[in-house]
Amino acid sequence: MTEQTPAPLRRSDTCGALRASDIGRTVTLMGWSQTNRDHGGVIFLDLRDRSGVVQCVFNPLEAPAAHEVAQRVRSEFVIAVHGVVQPRPAGTVNPRLPTGEVEVHISRMEVLNAAKTPPFPINDDNAPEVDENLRLRYRYLDLRNTRMQQNLLLRHKAAQAARAYLDAQEFWEVETPLLIKSTPEGARDFLVPARLRAGEFYALPQSPQLLKQTLMVAGVERYYQFARCLRDEDLRGDRQFEFTQIDLEMAFVERDDVLTVTEGIIQAIMRVIGVDVPTPFLRMTFVEAMARFGSDKPDTRFGLEFVDLAGVFAATEFKAFAAVLAAGGQVKGINAKGAAGLSRRELDDLIAYAQSFGAKGMAYFQVTPEGLKSPVTKFLSEEERTAFATTLGAEVGDLLLVIADTPHVVAQALGRVRLHLGEKLGLIPENTWNFLWVVDFPMFAWNEETQQIDAMHHPFTMPKAEDLPLLDTDPLQVRGDLYDLVLNGNELVSGSIRVHRRDIQERVLEIINMPLEQVRERFGFLVEAFEYGAPPHGGMAIGFDRLIMLMAGEKTIRDVIAFPKTSSGADLMMDAPTTVDPLQLRDLGLQLRKRG
Ligand code: AMO
Ligand code: AMP
Repeated sequence: MTEQTPAPLRRSDTCGALRASDIGRTVTLMGWSQTNRDHGGVIFLDLRDRSGVVQCVFNPLEAPAAHEVAQRVRSEFVIAVHGVVQPRPAGTVNPRLPTGEVEVHISRMEVLNAAKTPPFPINDDNAPEVDENLRLRYRYLDLRNTRMQQNLLLRHKAAQAARAYLDAQEFWEVETPLLIKSTPEGARDFLVPARLRAGEFYALPQSPQLLKQTLMVAGVERYYQFARCLRDEDLRGDRQFEFTQIDLEMAFVERDDVLTVTEGIIQAIMRVIGVDVPTPFLRMTFVEAMARFGSDKPDTRFGLEFVDLAGVFAATEFKAFAAVLAAGGQVKGINAKGAAGLSRRELDDLIAYAQSFGAKGMAYFQVTPEGLKSPVTKFLSEEERTAFATTLGAEVGDLLLVIADTPHVVAQALGRVRLHLGEKLGLIPENTWNFLWVVDFPMFAWNEETQQIDAMHHPFTMPKAEDLPLLDTDPLQVRGDLYDLVLNGNELVSGSIRVHRRDIQERVLEIINMPLEQVRERFGFLVEAFEYGAPPHGGMAIGFDRLIMLMAGEKTIRDVIAFPKTSSGADLMMDAPTTVDPLQLRDLGLQLRKRG
């Protein structure tokens, strides 16, 4: 009689789900072998699948055949095991592991697939940090890591929560094309050659901005999309060429309607991690944010706010301050509470840091029981010193920092010093979610280079109603109906109410000196659509990767994107970009030449 081949193993349970309540059950598990330790005959193997890890025990006396196979199993082999869930012996319970009360005693096992030795260990807390380029090169191994899997899961759950909320609010999810005409988000376009029309190109969307506005004219009223946006710009930790927005547009609304819906989405998403954020979120005007924090995306989790010292030093003899004030600049300070003890070296570093953001200098004052201690004190009168200390609320032990410069440099340099000190002095509380709307951004900005007025956001933003008269008299003072949502100092959302009236639109385009032909060439379809009854409308886009990054406590959006690019724009796993076949180029009517 020939021996019967046993029936193939079929998965009955997942590793991470097993608990004390499963003791006594016979289970079949499948997954990757994480570690394999031979303890004098008995083998302990940590088996991992998406749900978690469980300890499997192979005893040579109970199941010699399974034990035999287990001896040959190395890291990341794919295996199937069959056995009984048992309590772990007293003293071997692992409270750090959800499955730590149990182990599975294996009676049968199969190797489903062998694996090469991975270039780095998966899930080894004791291993040195793995170089990111190596992780990206072997992304499929990197993504097996529990932390990375949790990030993908979080992203999925957040997307589901947002979709459910938006569906309940009667938004329609509409997809817009990827092969389009250039959009006005201000970055460089990625271009795609059109084979059927040699010499012509599509642009990949920097956002669906123009299409979503067209959908408003089309009567969709409430649109959203998980939109892939493509921008050829310098990459940073929170910037990728390709990223995802929760993009949204609404008709027949005012600003507060858009803000309320956005708050609802954020609230629904934050519940995924068990955080209930109160609404409405705080609001601050752009002018106030710049004055108090020197930033249009202030981190309001800690103080160190700017104090204007123009009044204190109005008549000062100290040249560095007097000259700046005379030239229309600013003198501003911050009080780093309790930081008088910073060493000379630390202070020099701080000054150098301020200078790296354009400051010519930064004056510091240590508040001691004997008074202000500073290389600058001797230039200040008694009254100035007193007024200065009082204005900054100085107490013994404080460190006062002052920068005099143009408003732009003061904001930049003192703003960075503020953030730096917030971290250094440990002022930033953990698990705090400070959502803040920054509203009423200027509509236009002066472009030094071109000596022209530019649109701050894009030319389809509506000026605030009360500022409409200023369009003709003082355009740089016009505020747009613009809003950004900031979370803990990160820009998360941007949006605006759009112009739907032709007269205002024409005036705006005139101010930014965009000739009608150029408008027609670039956005002709939208301008034309607007002539057929555009409803009042507005919208916004949430930077989804950034939100997930912050929720996951990660430092870069690369860790919440399955297949991100390096900071130089390469995909190390696929090895993209690459050269292409000359035949492909010929088909496209393209010829390469050296970049001049
Ligand atoms: P904006 O260009 O400000 O607005 O983009 C909206 C949000 O998208 C995120 N974001 C990015 N995230 C990752 N990588 C990038 N390169 C990147 N660029 C932007 C930010 C930002 O706040 N069409 C308008 C929105 C509108 O007006 O409705 C737009 O795209 O979190
Ligand atoms: P100086 O006259 O350049 O030697 O500078 C004298 C002191 O004033 C130094 O402590 C400088 O850091 C400080 N200082 C110089 N310029 C500025 C400025 N623009 N803002 C604040 N402090 C300054």
